[in-house]
Amino acid sequence: MLAKIIVVMSPKGGVGKTTTAVNIATAISNLNKKTLLIDANLETPHVAIYYGFVGFKYSLEDVLNKKTKIEEAIYTGDNTNFHLLPSRVIKSDRDNSVHKLININIYLEQLRDKYDFIIIDSKPSYDIDFIKLIKEANSLIISNPDITSIIEAKKLKEELDEAGIKIIGLVVNKVNNRIKEQMTENEIKDITKINNIWKIREDHGVYNALRQGIPMVLSSKKSIAAKDIINISRQIIKI
Ligand SMILES: Nc1ncnc2c1ncn2[C@@H]1O[C@H](COP(=O)(O)OP(=O)(O)OP(=O)(O)O)[C@@H](O)[C@H]1O
Ligand SMILES: [Mg+2]
Repeated sequence: MLAKIIVVMSPKGGVGKTTTAVNIATAISNLNKKTLLIDANLETPHVAIYYGFVGFKYSLEDVLNKKTKIEEAIYTGDNTNFHLLPSRVIKSDRDNSVHKLININIYLEQLRDKYDFIIIDSKPSYDIDFIKLIKEANSLIISNPDITSIIEAKKLKEELDEAGIKIIGLVVNKVNNRIKEQMTENEIKDITKINNIWKIREDHGVYNALRQGIPMVLSSKKSIAAKDIINISRQIIKI
């Protein structure tokens, strides 16, 4: 079986792509699926920080710049089901957008038979040039429960539909049931026309996990956001 590739995307920044990508990838690997998490946000790459992993030698950029072989830039820890291909945390040149990633599919094709899932974190973007580079990529859209974020998710959904790219679902992150003014699931469905909507609740445990450098689904399994993410991960592996 070839890996299912899921690109975590949103037009708006700061909605929770990295939090979702990191925790879903970790949770899926804990469900006994061999998982590779790739940080393809070359502008603000933060995935490694979520694992407290900063002293790595090679990154995705080194692979793309042909400085090293891809195997050298893939790291693993105690959980052998989980592999990470990080990007550099500190960058001097920001001229990298999509053309640096132009050959990513060549690398992904080499890896697809080694994993069950390849989860890719991406930079916030209104265009779909990046995901279009990847053969048989699925998209997971992230938004927040406010109208601006939902409208942008709807626009992205329409573009993906037009390009024939499968959307596995919309994750509405930072849901707070005490804030009545947040958009409801039905309102979000009506606007976006995405049927598969998942919620991740707002949870301060996210910050705790970041401080510890251990993803929330491992460091605070009982926190509400971790529970939501584990539940989403269980559903994703069945799709
Ligand atoms: N469910 C949540 N509850 C509380 N805080 C959250 C939640 N999800 C994410 N956050 C916080 O929101 C901020 C942005 O999250 P994150 O970095 O995952 O967003 P992003 O979409 O990847 O951002 P960027 O567009 O910069 O890549 C972080 O400080 C994160 O800790
Ligand atoms: Mg991010």
